[in-house]
Amino acid sequence: MSSARINGERLQRRIAALAEVGAIDGGGCARLALSDADRAGRDLVCGWMRELGLAVTVDAIGNVVGLRAGRVDGPAVMTGSHIDTVRTGGRFDGNYGVLAGLEVVAALNEGGLSTEHPLAVAFFTNEEGARFAPDMLGSLVYTGGLALDAALATTGIDGASVGAELARIGYAGPAPVPAAAPRAFVELHVEQGPVLDREGLDIGVVESVQGISWTEIEIRGTSNHAGTTPMALRRDAGWAAGSIINFVRELAQELGGDQVATVGRIEFFPNLVNVVPNRAVLTVDLRNTDEERLRIAEARLAAHLDALRDAEKVEISTRKLARFAPVRFDPAMCDRIETHARALGLATRRMPSGAGHDAQMLAAVCPTAMIFVPSVDGISHNVREYTHARHIEAGAQVLLAVLTELAGGTQPAGEHP
Ligand code: GLV
Ligand code: MN
Ligand code: MN
Repeated sequence: MSSARINGERLQRRIAALAEVGAIDGGGCARLALSDADRAGRDLVCGWMRELGLAVTVDAIGNVVGLRAGRVDGPAVMTGSHIDTVRTGGRFDGNYGVLAGLEVVAALNEGGLSTEHPLAVAFFTNEEGARFAPDMLGSLVYTGGLALDAALATTGIDGASVGAELARIGYAGPAPVPAAAPRAFVELHVEQGPVLDREGLDIGVVESVQGISWTEIEIRGTSNHAGTTPMALRRDAGWAAGSIINFVRELAQELGGDQVATVGRIEFFPNLVNVVPNRAVLTVDLRNTDEERLRIAEARLAAHLDALRDAEKVEISTRKLARFAPVRFDPAMCDRIETHARALGLATRRMPSGAGHDAQMLAAVCPTAMIFVPSVDGISHNVREYTHARHIEAGAQVLLAVLTELAGGTQPAGEHP
């Protein structure tokens, strides 16, 4: 067993220092993928990786991997997450998993310990999807789920392309994608939902990630005078957009279970007080742990759009921004996480993830699972996102134990059996 010790304060210092990059009022961060702030955050974390003795590589989609050699060559046991944030992000989402991975390395270095298999700490490009869709773009390309050319050609909400922005910030690296599969992948993350906090538990053993369906909807009607155009003669793109917002809320309530539905982005044109909008663009985020039910939700939304075309005589086009089926993690990996957490005296439960994660992409190529720690009041994608220090440390301790076991145990460095 490992005699390495996680230093919770050192981990918190790194979390606080990274949160200074792109800091926004209230203690959160705005580091949209491939922005200047993302570059500054990447530079900081790459510097820490090098200080810890990791060999840093950057691949063609900008994923960064810090490698700690093992006593034998071969695929690494990998941990990691992302350091991009939504525009109103907290300081823990993604960052915690990456920096806890670095804390595991620091603890092993401090203990003078080597592992049999190599260890790697990664951060993946554009996990959030808030600027470029789909989300989990870097890990999707890493695992061969999307061709590099298609990923580089993706344009974001500001019209910039992934390829141009990667080159601009200096993170279009030489390492090839798809990459060789790791030996195993474990992602530590804050829950971002209320379950663990409400139940007073320490650790979530994440067994699955729910399916995600993102659609951009563009509605075209006719601009006209708000005072003179009789209601019956309107082709109002704004009203049609509003009806979609109401529809998806009612749909989620009607389908019940795990179904959630969100309109998170909307734009009106020309967006003036006294002009009937001639164009509206909005996004719908539908998620469900059950693929069949997610398909039903998508079909119901499509039928609603058809009804709107008839009712308001508007033109409606749709574009799929992301579509990922639910993913189940490796049962043996889940058992390992649970066993280590309990051995550390931590209270656990099994649970699905409501948020998308890079681990759901890695699950396609190697044994994968996730560790959750509680988010106070279940708040995330909000500057108020918070996790207690004891849980930050506990999650990293579980990560250390799981990673070192997967890497074949530890030995004093320099000792060869
Ligand atoms: C990504 O973090 C998502 O779940 O939206
Ligand atoms: Mn995240
Ligand atoms: Mn997020």
